[in-house]
Amino acid sequence: MLDPSADEICSWSNSVTQFMADYLGDLRDRGVYRHMVSRAIRKRLDPALPIDGSDFDELLKFFREAIVPFSRQNAHPRMFGYVQSPGTPLGAFADLLASTLNANLTVWRSAPAPVELERLTIDWIRQILGFKAEAGGLFVSGGSMANLAALAAARQTKYDSSGRLRIYASTETHFSISKAAALLGIGRENVRLVAVDERFKIRVDDLVAKITADLEAGYLPFCVVANAGTVNTGAVDPLAEIREIADRFQLWMHVDGSYGAFAVLAESAKKLFAGIERADSIALDPHKWLYLPVDVGCVIYREPEIARAAFAHEAEYTRIIGQQADEAFAFWDYGPELSRRFRALKVWMLLKGVGLDYLGEAIESNLACARHLESMVRASNDFEMVAPIELSIFCFRHVPAQLRNGSPQAIDAFNERLLIALQRDGSSYLSNATLGGRFALRGCVLNYRTTLRDMELLLDDLRRVARSLAAFA
Ligand SMILES: Cc1ncc(COP(=O)(O)O)c(C=O)c1O
Repeated sequence: MLDPSADEICSWSNSVTQFMADYLGDLRDRGVYRHMVSRAIRKRLDPALPIDGSDFDELLKFFREAIVPFSRQNAHPRMFGYVQSPGTPLGAFADLLASTLNANLTVWRSAPAPVELERLTIDWIRQILGFKAEAGGLFVSGGSMANLAALAAARQTKYDSSGRLRIYASTETHFSISKAAALLGIGRENVRLVAVDERFKIRVDDLVAKITADLEAGYLPFCVVANAGTVNTGAVDPLAEIREIADRFQLWMHVDGSYGAFAVLAESAKKLFAGIERADSIALDPHKWLYLPVDVGCVIYREPEIARAAFAHEAEYTRIIGQQADEAFAFWDYGPELSRRFRALKVWMLLKGVGLDYLGEAIESNLACARHLESMVRASNDFEMVAPIELSIFCFRHVPAQLRNGSPQAIDAFNERLLIALQRDGSSYLSNATLGGRFALRGCVLNYRTTLRDMELLLDDLRRVARSLAAFA
């Protein structure tokens, strides 16, 4: 099993690719989710230490029977929960090839061609965003890690260990920013949460007021985080205006574009991102809106040398001896990880294989799905929008006739029950958000398989499940 023959490898791979073809082939007929409990899953896992091995067919059978049915089917066209990409066979094959080569992208000499491919792919992303040629970056595990790396670089510009550093971000900002502040020793309490307007975008007047008050109180403002697609509603903050404020107060401007930034590829959304290319750093996730399987996030720095000052670390076992500048390049100087898998391969294969035009159209079609849902909701008398649509996230609630005169609490409680029942039903999957203190059903279209018809089916599913709830009330 450890060192299979060529024939065995072919036979294993035939079984695996057959599984993939069958699985993706009847995805639509499968539920997105089913109700399950931990005990039922554990019952299927053999807890005994595996002293003797098993053959490959048995391992695959276990995967097919004990893992697949008890997983959420993230590739399903009506998986609208969270910010979940569907993955794509191209990405899965790239992951297989990356693991086969098992390149370790620490420094150039450890993986020359893979490192060059990562640098090229990062440069393509730089161009997509419109950053200047000097900008650079690297792939990391995801948006949280990209935000952490960017804030570590930002802190380099105003180092202070007296607990006075301050970061500014809207109340809608993803929790990974506060988490990064805590991990970097800046402190969660030093992330100042700035109010948002009725479109859930940061209020620049409140941003300026908070910075000014902090300066007067002796704090050291050093960074403002702008959202390019908030996790709750998809709001894109006014990036060009935030750049001006950052310049005025000499702040690092970081953009969290983990969810939304690749929507710059869609013609109808492009204008929202004006100014993004002037950020000091940006986090954006190919494992979200480039549809790739987890894990691949990306951080781009406008001036990578600042990140280098944050991350470079001299140790004898990492010293690079006798190489020219290009060949002495080390990713470990620009991010937190040392050993790094060959994430660039799946990004490169996707961009090269699918092409930007087609990806832009796929993203455009996701935006159209969200807008279609919004227009159906607005035309209905039993649903209402809770936030305007900016990108592909939609927040709404069901208000059937019998609840129309109900209290906000009763409507919230009903929608909460409806969400759980919908998830258990399995035909469509949503998650939730709290907006202005009220409960909202929340969905995010992030799948190239999702059609306008799926959005109609989602509302049908909600009405059907709501009726069954009423019947058992
Ligand atoms: C806006 C935003 N930022 C950061 C993250 C964290 O990304 P990851 O889950 O890849 O760590 C998310 C995840 O949904 C997000 O939506």
